[in-house]
Amino acid sequence: MKKLIALFLMLVVAYSGQAQQVCLSTPHTTLLLSAPQGGELRFLYYGEKLSEADARSLPSAGGAEFPAYPAYGLNCPMGTALSVRHADGNLTTELRVEGTDTDADDEAVTTVIRLKDTVYPFRVSVCYKAYRKVDVIETWTEISHQEKKPVLLNQFASAYLPIRRGDVWLTSFYGAWANEARMAQEPLEPGMKVIKNRDGVRNTHTAHAEVIFSLDGRPQENTGRVIGAALCYSGNYKLRIDTDESDYHHFFAGINEDNSTYRLKGGELFRTPALALTYSNEGMGGNSRTFHRWSRAYKLANGTEPRKILLNSWEGVYFNTQEEAMKQMIADIAGMGGELFVMDDGWFGDKYPRKTDRTSLGDWSVDRQKLPSGVEGLVEEARKKGIRFGIWIEPEMANTQSELFEKHPDWVLKAPGRELVKGRGGTQVVLDLAHPQVQDFVFRVVDDLMTRYPEIDYIKWDANMSILNHGSPYLSADEQSHMYIAYHRGLESVCQRIRAKYPRLTMQACASGGGRVNYGLLPYFDEFWTSDNTDAVQRIYMQWGTSCFFPAVAMASHISASPNHQTFRTVPLKFRIDVAMSGRLGMELQPKHMTEEEKKLCADAIAAYKEIRPVVQQGDLYRLQSPYDRLGVASLMYVSPEKDKAVFYWWKMEHFKNQHLPRVRMNGLNPQGRYRIRELNRIDKQPLRMEGEVFTGAYLMANGLELPDTHQVDKPQRNEYASRVLYLEEIK
Ligand code: DGJ
Repeated sequence: MKKLIALFLMLVVAYSGQAQQVCLSTPHTTLLLSAPQGGELRFLYYGEKLSEADARSLPSAGGAEFPAYPAYGLNCPMGTALSVRHADGNLTTELRVEGTDTDADDEAVTTVIRLKDTVYPFRVSVCYKAYRKVDVIETWTEISHQEKKPVLLNQFASAYLPIRRGDVWLTSFYGAWANEARMAQEPLEPGMKVIKNRDGVRNTHTAHAEVIFSLDGRPQENTGRVIGAALCYSGNYKLRIDTDESDYHHFFAGINEDNSTYRLKGGELFRTPALALTYSNEGMGGNSRTFHRWSRAYKLANGTEPRKILLNSWEGVYFNTQEEAMKQMIADIAGMGGELFVMDDGWFGDKYPRKTDRTSLGDWSVDRQKLPSGVEGLVEEARKKGIRFGIWIEPEMANTQSELFEKHPDWVLKAPGRELVKGRGGTQVVLDLAHPQVQDFVFRVVDDLMTRYPEIDYIKWDANMSILNHGSPYLSADEQSHMYIAYHRGLESVCQRIRAKYPRLTMQACASGGGRVNYGLLPYFDEFWTSDNTDAVQRIYMQWGTSCFFPAVAMASHISASPNHQTFRTVPLKFRIDVAMSGRLGMELQPKHMTEEEKKLCADAIAAYKEIRPVVQQGDLYRLQSPYDRLGVASLMYVSPEKDKAVFYWWKMEHFKNQHLPRVRMNGLNPQGRYRIRELNRIDKQPLRMEGEVFTGAYLMANGLELPDTHQVDKPQRNEYASRVLYLEEIK
């Protein structure tokens, strides 16, 4: 293996005449740079894998020759990734290549190109991590200097990428609380497109730090060249696409510098978050499958482990987490075959018991009024019923009505000399995670729980507030602009400590729903709460968008009550189940309000999910019919890596008599494979015509199956909804 690595390293740095090339490769892609010693680091190419000969001749083919990390000052009109004020006030930076270092292991080859300013002792290392088994290259920078006084970093993007103009379309994700990850697609026109976040704590309610560039016109699911990019950061970000007079769109991605000028001390290293890039010629689907594989194998905590089927108490009882109700829910989910019960908000507070959202955050002791036998009583109850126990916390926050705030009023973010602006419940405040003692406190919230109740299997980590006050009591006056960055460094350091001690604990990143769906935090979390909106119809749209970068194994998707608590829509249980089963299945309702028949339907679905779980959670996703096309149907499927099993989902999205719904063609199957069809979650009196029949992958992919658009049920149960889940198993 060592020999192979050495050979590979020789190929990473190739020479073409005088100009030294750096050639970064993944199985099917190449990123090519020109890095002449003492010269400028230039971007040459990113796309389909190049042969050695093409890589050598590429500079003479014409094309992009922009600086790979443009710095401000000596080429003022061009957009830049870096802009600094040197210690003596000089605003210009000119970077030249000092050298290239390469490091390789079984997972990836990391190449660091060291740049130095021509005048100042100011350095930038441009870093690339090219994965060996998956087509992802991560890129970031490391900025440092030895100047006599601090250097001000005004702009410090993680990466820059020029994209050749043509008919390039951008796919991005926007939204709001309870309507996260809506997909937007638009052609890139001259001017500046900015996607940004300024929340301070959460960063994916209103927009996402992931985008897809479709290089061959309007985005297609299965065809066309695409470049996908995901900024791996949990804090404020800014993505800029500057379409200027050149032949290129200029893409910059990094931390949002607004109100965050960084005063870099001599000898300090400033590391920007990584931008993960992929290139695919299989359209939007190729992009997702690559990101999902990379995520499961290298990014997401415990990404290849199956996730348990759970019941969460929130929509069932809200703050009313009384012991009897908790025990009843434990028994109910165990009875339906579930594997985990999660007690949500409401269980804590001694002096100030948590009855509403106005008090108690910070006081992580059990409310013995509600839970006389304590958490240990519930852990014990879960054990007796043969399931695991999980618990909700919101450790980065406090309420002004809490013992924590009374004891440590200086631990919260607050502008000096100003009234505190408060958030949720009119009393919520954000802890100052720049402060090492606060970091210790947050770590201890988890550590104490796990020490006292080592059987806790799952923690839902919530964050329900933005930063509303710019001011860190911990940071010095001239470091106040570091607040947002220091907060996320503090958070990451706490997460690292937790993961070092509790690697197997399942942790969910929740932030008023889908506020923390990002690859900055996911290395520490097993999954995310996709949205506070559990309405099955709206979930189809939100989960569609989310699936463009995030795999089903991480996408929590719960069966909730009807009418839905957010949209008030009445949706039959069958449809709610069929949607929830396309992600990480869970339940979030009060089972005691369900009929025996409903419980049976859920129990059957849970049993079926256990069977298909490996395919859904570890398989390749093929989106088949987009809800955004508004053709009346949405459909997707997961296919096992061996292509011997697949799960097909079909949801009717609108209802008109005798309407013409499209017949959905499948994808991702082995054309020669012969697949037996089995319907899951069946409610119809008669089986489907194709039940138990065998079709070749070729047929299913060319034609698909004709599915009835209503269910054959007794009159009182008829309604406008229809959905199907089909399990395909290859006959050997
Ligand atoms: C917001 C979360 O998204 C909900 O699921 C729930 O945990 C509440 N917070 C609890 O306050």
